[in-house]
Amino acid sequence: MDRRTYEELKKLLLLLLTISFTGFVCQISMVSQKYGKYGNIMQRITLNLREDYGHGPYRVPKVKTADLGTESLVMDLTNFSKTSNETLDNSPIDRKSMSWENWLYLMETRQMIRTDRMNRLCTEMNRTKYTPDELLVRKGLRATLYSNDRYNITFSVVKKAASNNFQNLFKSIGGLTRLYSVSEEMCKPRLETHTRAVFVRHPLSRFLSAYIDKFVLHHIDHFLSIGRIIIDYYRRNVTRRERLKAMKKADDVKLEEFIQYIVKSPKHRRNTHWNNYWSHNRACELRFDFIGKLETIQDDVRFMLYKLKVENRDNIEFLKPYVTYHGKQEKLRKYYKNVSLPLLRQLYSIYHMDFKMFGYDMEILGHEIWS
Ligand SMILES: *[C@@H]1O[C@H](CO)[C@@H](O)[C@H](O)[C@H]1NC(C)=O
Ligand SMILES: *[C@@H]1O[C@H](CO)[C@@H](O)[C@H](O)[C@H]1NC(C)=O
Ligand SMILES: *[C@@H]1O[C@H](CO)[C@@H](O)[C@H](O)[C@H]1NC(C)=O
Ligand SMILES: *[C@@H]1O[C@H](CO)[C@@H](O)[C@H](O)[C@H]1NC(C)=O
Ligand SMILES: *[C@@H]1O[C@H](CO)[C@@H](O)[C@H](O)[C@H]1NC(C)=O
Ligand SMILES: *[C@@H]1O[C@H](CO)[C@@H](O)[C@H](O)[C@H]1NC(C)=O
Repeated sequence: MDRRTYEELKKLLLLLLTISFTGFVCQISMVSQKYGKYGNIMQRITLNLREDYGHGPYRVPKVKTADLGTESLVMDLTNFSKTSNETLDNSPIDRKSMSWENWLYLMETRQMIRTDRMNRLCTEMNRTKYTPDELLVRKGLRATLYSNDRYNITFSVVKKAASNNFQNLFKSIGGLTRLYSVSEEMCKPRLETHTRAVFVRHPLSRFLSAYIDKFVLHHIDHFLSIGRIIIDYYRRNVTRRERLKAMKKADDVKLEEFIQYIVKSPKHRRNTHWNNYWSHNRACELRFDFIGKLETIQDDVRFMLYKLKVENRDNIEFLKPYVTYHGKQEKLRKYYKNVSLPLLRQLYSIYHMDFKMFGYDMEILGHEIWS
């Protein structure tokens, strides 16, 4: 290489470096402009979810594009195999691998799978959908409902399933009204016209999250007194002295002990952090139009905002793409491993309708005997 070529090359390299650096700076400022308005809520939502999120896709880590026929779109649902339905129901989709139309189609199908199943089970149990008037009569039925009037959606809050994130999201796009605290006249039009939505989560994952929150991290003092009761009743294998000592602090309730407390008495199951959400959230009475899951939250939120025609929805990133759900299944196994099988069965039987109605099973723990 002669000296001239070398000089030319050096110049070129410098130029390239300058260009890429400028591009980088521009990108940064574009990003901060783009997300300026939603910057705070984005961050908050992302952070909360990263701490709170349950478990990941527990069947197939990633939907294979080929399985779902994105090349030649199969519009006839009869050709969806059982695995495809289950995969679509519970696993995140790699949206970048398919066209927008195909993605929309899969999202519609996913909703159909979920709402069909809910409606079928409600019918089997002879539970009819309530009319808005019937919903109005019993105020308790409205306890979990929040409305956003700008986009005409009313959603039912499931505690420990990103509930705060959804409340923040809707607050930021037009506000929230709790139906429990407004008059019947104010509720009625909402109950008549709004889209009804709910977001759920694997029952065991939600249960574990409640346990960790209340009995490991101790976010709320109130649960220390419940912890005391649990140790008093269910820690039988230690001396009285040891038990009294443990009760003083009440900071080491075991998952197994907590489960015993739950299975022993229906009264203990009423707490909103670990009650049955299919009945507490009135799935049969309300018949949700939209059922989202934490396991597929990115797609579900995106699709919901699309259906609601939320303006600037692309700027509302509910979760950053880098948040993945791998490893969560291991966490579940790690904790539930210590719980005896008979006790686990009892726990399952308490939540079995949440499992059935929302398409979850015990395979997540490696127990296939339930499915
Ligand atoms: C469904 O699958 C069958 C058998 O593979 C095939 O003959 C049929 O064309 C498929 N239907 C659609 C709508 O693709
Ligand atoms: C898949 O779900 C759709 C929508 O609920 C349903 O129509 C179809 O029968 C399901 N397919 C199988 C194989 O269960
Ligand atoms: C629902 O009603 C039908 C007909 O009245 C009855 O045969 C069936 O046992 C009922 N199912 C339940 C779960 O109560
Ligand atoms: C919400 O409902 C009201 C009353 O039915 C209607 O006037 C309004 O256009 C709706 N808004 C949207 C975004 O659909
Ligand atoms: C009580 O302790 C004994 C001996 O350590 C052990 O075999 C047994 O499984 C324990 N029982 C419970 C309920 O933990
Ligand atoms: C499970 O039990 C073992 C033995 O008692 C204990 O060392 C471990 O910390 C427990 N795991 C969890 C997640 O509680």
